[in-house]
Amino acid sequence: MKRAYIETYGCQMNISDSELMAGILAEQGFVATDKPDDADVILVNTCAIRDHAEQRVIGRVGQLQEFRRQGAVIGVTGCMAQRMGDSLLGRAGGVDLVMGPDAYRQLPDKLTEVAGKRTRPALPLAFGQHAPQQPRGLTVLGFDPHENYEGVAAKRISRVSAWVPIQRGCNYRCTYCIVPYVRGDEKNRDPQAILDEVRALAADGVPEVTLLGQTVNSWEHGGWSFPRLLREVARVDGIRRVRFTSPHPNGFTRELVEVMATEPAVCKQLHLPVQSGHNRTLKRMLRRYTVEEYLEKIEWVREAMPGIALSTDVIVAFPGETDEEYQATLELMRAVRYDDAFLYKYSERDGTPATRLPRDQFVPDEVGKARLERLIETHRAIQAELYHAEVGRVEEVLVEKEGRRGGLQGRTESNKVVTFDGPVELIGYFAEVKLVSTSGATFVGELAHAMAAA
Ligand code: SAH
Ligand code: SF4
Ligand code: F3S
Repeated sequence: MKRAYIETYGCQMNISDSELMAGILAEQGFVATDKPDDADVILVNTCAIRDHAEQRVIGRVGQLQEFRRQGAVIGVTGCMAQRMGDSLLGRAGGVDLVMGPDAYRQLPDKLTEVAGKRTRPALPLAFGQHAPQQPRGLTVLGFDPHENYEGVAAKRISRVSAWVPIQRGCNYRCTYCIVPYVRGDEKNRDPQAILDEVRALAADGVPEVTLLGQTVNSWEHGGWSFPRLLREVARVDGIRRVRFTSPHPNGFTRELVEVMATEPAVCKQLHLPVQSGHNRTLKRMLRRYTVEEYLEKIEWVREAMPGIALSTDVIVAFPGETDEEYQATLELMRAVRYDDAFLYKYSERDGTPATRLPRDQFVPDEVGKARLERLIETHRAIQAELYHAEVGRVEEVLVEKEGRRGGLQGRTESNKVVTFDGPVELIGYFAEVKLVSTSGATFVGELAHAMAAA
């Protein structure tokens, strides 16, 4: 029996892919382990979205060489693997397998193949003795327009809240973004397969699902639209909470707002990436909407669901961003008042269209850093105000796990993290929790009432 350890970087899609990989490996007799020390196979499932994400992985693969020298096989999978390909084999001390996101069905075979080629050192190595030179690794890349991993049973980390990928790849070409080049064009899963998966999760006692796709609301299949799918998922018996991420502001329709507002199981929470508060920047980003159109959609949502929690993604210092354009983003943040925001400084990605914008208009790094810092401060102040205003409320919390510093941890309907004291038996159940204090970004609560199972 081979033991496999998987470490995941990047977005929810990548976490979900790691669960698929774990499922594929389990089917072939691999056993999961949660530490690299005793693993025969170490997989690092990577992200390519920003340079920083890639640097972290290179550093980590360097650290993991210790286990490779002892005989473990190291595989790098995911978006960075697809982007860098062969050139990864010799990086950070060496990698045995490089595999892109459409090739995971071949994982067991390819791992066995590279393991067979490796020479295991006699352990422990004597002083002055070197680990044997390892043969060159394998690379498995490329897109498969039909690969949706249908029929693969994911091995999920959580038994409380499940990621359900409904779409892979992306048909947009936002000029800063590497995703379409490392994940290929949009591919949508069959609605019956999705619904079967959700029903099976509900039957297993999983009360919450999150539908995943890079532009999840552009999902369509054989006459089905995303709002219809969302409604059907929300009506599956036993499913108490449905979330979806990330919708694109285009194709965020009144029909979708209507389904969100009328289906009790759809959480009153929305992540709607805006990226910039200025139309000129949005145009250079090729986002295909205006600030006015975006704000109109926010208005629809707030009208239909007062109190809905909103979150977003923003990139500052995109090539050519003037101070005026940046100020417009600050203004948008102050106007919308997001409950949560993921704020980034532009990171240049080789091969993306933005790299061809006029170089003399690129924003100097110090300016970008200052813009990001100021935006983070502005957002945090708003977020803290919103969170403080919720202290004293009693919220329905889905208890997910034990907290890092003891106690329990769960989320409110609006996706806010709450830690509180209570018995571990509550994990997987809903509890009424009074929010007693906030750090400004999470809550500490007190158990008011434990509720029945989903
Ligand atoms: N498909 C999602 C985004 C996935 S990437 C969507 O369209 O909403 C997550 C976030 O990373 C993006 O929303 C964007 O804010 C950020 N991002 C993407 N490329 C980036 C880059 N080159 N530099 C900095 N941030 C980037
Ligand atoms: Fe990237 Fe744009 Fe596609 Fe999102 S919609 S994954 S930002 S190209
Ligand atoms: Fe990163 Fe790939 Fe997700 S680039 S953000 S892991 S789709």
